[in-house]
Amino acid sequence: MRVLFVASEAVPFAKTGGLADVIGSLPKELTRQGLDVRVMLPKYGSIADVYRDAMTAVATFEIYVGWRKQFTGIEVLQHEGVTYYFVDNEYYFRRSGLYGYDDEAERFAFFCRGVIESLPIIEFQPDIIHCHDWQAGMIPVLLKAHYSHLPFFSGIKTITTIHNLKYQGVFSQQLMKDLFGLSDDHFTGTALELHGGASFLKGGLLYADRITTVSQTYAEEIQTPYFGEHLDSLLRHRRDQLIGIVNGIDYEVFDPMGDTHLVMNYRDSLPKKQQNKLALQEQLGLPVRSDVPMIALVTRLVQQKGLDLIQHVLPEILALDIQLVILGTGDRVYEQMFRDAAYSHPDKVAAQIMFNEGLAHQMYAASDLFLMPSQFEPCGIGQLIALRYRSVPIVRETGGLKDTVQPYNEFAGEGTGFTFSNYNAHDMLHTIRRAVDFYQNDREAWLRIQQNMKKCDYSWKKSAQQYVNVYKELKKA
Ligand code: GLC
Repeated sequence: MRVLFVASEAVPFAKTGGLADVIGSLPKELTRQGLDVRVMLPKYGSIADVYRDAMTAVATFEIYVGWRKQFTGIEVLQHEGVTYYFVDNEYYFRRSGLYGYDDEAERFAFFCRGVIESLPIIEFQPDIIHCHDWQAGMIPVLLKAHYSHLPFFSGIKTITTIHNLKYQGVFSQQLMKDLFGLSDDHFTGTALELHGGASFLKGGLLYADRITTVSQTYAEEIQTPYFGEHLDSLLRHRRDQLIGIVNGIDYEVFDPMGDTHLVMNYRDSLPKKQQNKLALQEQLGLPVRSDVPMIALVTRLVQQKGLDLIQHVLPEILALDIQLVILGTGDRVYEQMFRDAAYSHPDKVAAQIMFNEGLAHQMYAASDLFLMPSQFEPCGIGQLIALRYRSVPIVRETGGLKDTVQPYNEFAGEGTGFTFSNYNAHDMLHTIRRAVDFYQNDREAWLRIQQNMKKCDYSWKKSAQQYVNVYKELKKA
């Protein structure tokens, strides 16, 4: 089975969010399970020199983007057993950062075209092209419109995976017509048209042979108007080809037993885990106390992640005997909110407004509780890491959070975390209080939860098998 992953980011080359974690780890597991999986990414200027220097050029050719002929280079790099190809054009990708440019449509139109046209040249004929998010969304459309009459492409099946339906790649129809050379009938309401423009992602959802998303609950949620981002009726229409497969995490990268960022490695020992808390308190200038519950928030500081709920009840949270450690960047208001809180409550709040991989690992290890009250969450990766590092998740029951954190039930002794269902600040506050209360006053319950977390397995193994089943079924079809 030959599978080509196409995405706009992957750890360790380029990352802005959870997509990069998935693309950086799922192919490894699929390779382990015997598939020939290769990954194609844009060759961004921000990829570290260690990787750039190790790439070798395998092809150069020219493609049309609209009426403009563009140089395309393909470079290859083997990394941890997986073959990565990088689509190179310095004009489009040698810029700082990954996204946010005015010519975003043209950059990713170039990418989609470059990926397709490279395949006969590098002589890789995949059974499946597995496209992730809007940046790869036009590949299924282009294949059907321009390539499927060619023998090389005629048998290739496609999958579109939604990591976040909110990002749809919507641009003007005129621009899209120019970039992709598509006829007018591609731009009707039952085709690419969306919000008056045309959408890369909608193209992927309409033209791919299968649609997947990153949890079962999100697969159901996006068929409703509240979560559907104006695509719910399309998704209801294709529900027989839509499946939810929950993400895993890389159990080698996220392993408290082997994690080199920690002062003390551990698996199940709470006293050892606690050494990490004491070290982090010292490092961040918080009072060094083993008995105080430490709550971690490691996330992009944006509304999707429930930051407005926290904003609403922050004084009440800070009235509790807790410590709150924050790591992340995002919207100015939220960054400033945590800076202010750290200033007014230096004994309770440490706000690290940045991103730092090592510090993230230390926070997962040090914290007792992990807060993730998302408004919506296709899968969520933080809570999976938290479970692995035995930091008890406090989450809202939505998307992947609902599928991966089992609410603690003190009567049955079951559950791995604390959950609430309504997007309501006081429901969240109540849930935080309940969690803190168990931590402080019911040692037995706390140990029970720790035991329950031990049984979770969110490595990629099972989910990768589910993808293999989808691939096999498609190949046969
Ligand atoms: C997006 C989603 C997140 C998911 C990740 C990887 O970042 O917001 O929920 O875990 O993609 O699929």
